[in-house]
Amino acid sequence: MQRVLVTGAGGQIGSELTPILRKRHGTSGVVATDIRRPGAASAFADGPFEIVDVRDRERIRSLVADLRIDTIYHMAAILSATGEANPRLAWEVNVGGWANVLEAAREFSVGRVFCPSSIAVFGPETPRDPAPQLTVLRPTTMYGLSKVTGELVGDYYVHRYGLDIRGLRYPGIISSEAPPGGGTTDYAVDIFYQAIQAEQYTCFVRPDTVLPMMYMPDCIKATLALMDADFGRLSRHCDYNVAGMSFSAAELAAEIRKHIPSFVCEYAPDFRQAIADSWPLCLDDSLARGDWDWRPAYDLATMTADMVRRLKLRFGK
Ligand code: NAD
Ligand code: SER
Repeated sequence: MQRVLVTGAGGQIGSELTPILRKRHGTSGVVATDIRRPGAASAFADGPFEIVDVRDRERIRSLVADLRIDTIYHMAAILSATGEANPRLAWEVNVGGWANVLEAAREFSVGRVFCPSSIAVFGPETPRDPAPQLTVLRPTTMYGLSKVTGELVGDYYVHRYGLDIRGLRYPGIISSEAPPGGGTTDYAVDIFYQAIQAEQYTCFVRPDTVLPMMYMPDCIKATLALMDADFGRLSRHCDYNVAGMSFSAAELAAEIRKHIPSFVCEYAPDFRQAIADSWPLCLDDSLARGDWDWRPAYDLATMTADMVRRLKLRFGK
């Protein structure tokens, strides 16, 4: 039986990934960890959970050794907007935490490790439409810097120590279960909650802001497809571009209005506008498509219809 460790399991992605991993590997085979305990209603409250701060090297070492972990999904991170509020914390968690996971994986010969990267690795000097797989990586946020470092150090452990480490550059992830954790793309989730509960939203980026996005089912599908792929087929390791959809904030509001005609969206750009402006409009994911057969299932219309349906059910609307 595989023994799987998930860090940052309580976050937007980890809280949906963990129950799916438990279906695959058995509840007791997947140990969820985070710095905060999940509520009783959490989808992964039923299985093993440990409080773990990824900055604590000894804690990570002993957990990996004692539980004989052979697969790690490293989801703990500080995202872009929170990272700009506290750049040192972002560096310590994103780079220091990842270094601790990599060292434990090396020391205890963990079989496979997943660590997400992000569209935040790109910066204003990257071609924007689309951002190529291999291109200029000069981000302007601490989050982006930490993700470029994470990709490079992950690749180093593959080539230097022969570890099997895999990673995707996720676009902004849209989902209906757990709230997003302090990123620049959070508006594309918040807008749904406000549209359904208040029929009004004030968006923190301009209406013409276009960013790459992906619906959670595609995010999970891409993650598992990459982890399942034959190592020999992979021409990249820690930095695959994956694309879902791209749309402007105004196009998203218009799509939501097809379901909630009275919805009004206003715009009051804040410091996150500059971060969004430094990221590309879309990604070239042809290597992911060729190497491990990546295809997204959701576009703007199908994602919006599903988000509205789920949240209306949740809020009894
Ligand atoms: P999130 O902020 O929702 O969750 C991150 C989790 O990490 C939180 O539960 C938090 O409590 C935990 N955490 C924070 N500091 C920690 C520490 N010191 N030790 C242990 N845990 C800690 O983030 P997410 O959206 O679930 O992102 C998961 C991964 O995917 C991250 O690497 C992120 O950079 C990446 N990613 C996310 C998106 C997105 O739009 N959600 C896009 C691109 C990349
Ligand atoms: N969704 C993330 C953020 O906005 C992108 O990695 O920070």
